Amino acid sequence: MQRQREYWSGRYREDPDLFGSDESEFAHWALDIIGVEPVGRKLLELGAGNGRDMRFFHSAGFQVEGVDCAGDEPARARAGAITSNIQCKDVFDFLHDHERGSAEVIYSNLFYNMDFTEADHRALFAEAGRILKPGGFHLYSVRTVKDNWYGRGKLVRRDTYDSTPDGTVMHFFSEAYANRLRRGSFTLITMEERLKGKGDFPIDVYYVAERKP
Ligand SMILES: C[S@@+](CC[C@H](N)C(=O)[O-])C[C@H]1O[C@@H](n2cnc3c(N)ncnc32)[C@H](O)[C@@H]1O
Repeated sequence: MQRQREYWSGRYREDPDLFGSDESEFAHWALDIIGVEPVGRKLLELGAGNGRDMRFFHSAGFQVEGVDCAGDEPARARAGAITSNIQCKDVFDFLHDHERGSAEVIYSNLFYNMDFTEADHRALFAEAGRILKPGGFHLYSVRTVKDNWYGRGKLVRRDTYDSTPDGTVMHFFSEAYANRLRRGSFTLITMEERLKGKGDFPIDVYYVAERKP
């Protein structure tokens, strides 16, 4: 986690709006899935970055809380007051602090691609399942094994590459892997593959919407 913290803090210091200051397209997709009665519903965002998607969900009426291990407070402050709801800690510590059945939505954009093993992912999905209310939404986007960056750098473990100095450790998702993680915790609403990004940096992603039974 320390390495991730250093890497991402450095990137946000160079550019607080690394991924943009406007909300992601995935946030719009996710809101369409959740539907139109969000007021008062609690949404937790994992790997919230500068808080751009949290701001979007807040303005759509959600009660938002987020976590990101990168500790660049000035970047967050620039992104607006709502980002004070982002806790600067490891995702596991954040999730452990939340009670069973205490949220309606757990959301993340390009977060599960971070340096997590399969055991980590299983633990993260189990925590999401514990915290969500029955019928709650688990919505995430991830880069896939068809992504241009898949296979670049040093193989760390299955589908996981360290592209230092051009990047950091990334775990790419296959469809089978996403299906395996879901089993026993969530039912699938929809999973869509998209080609995203511009110019030299196209990325291949899955948009995944699941529900706690
Ligand atoms: C690819 S970025 C996506 C940021 C944001 N979701 C967005 O779309 O702008 C992944 C984020 O996950 C955070 N992160 C990586 N590992 C983490 C961990 N173990 N706990 C909390 N946050 C983590 C990084 O600091 C980074 O901001």
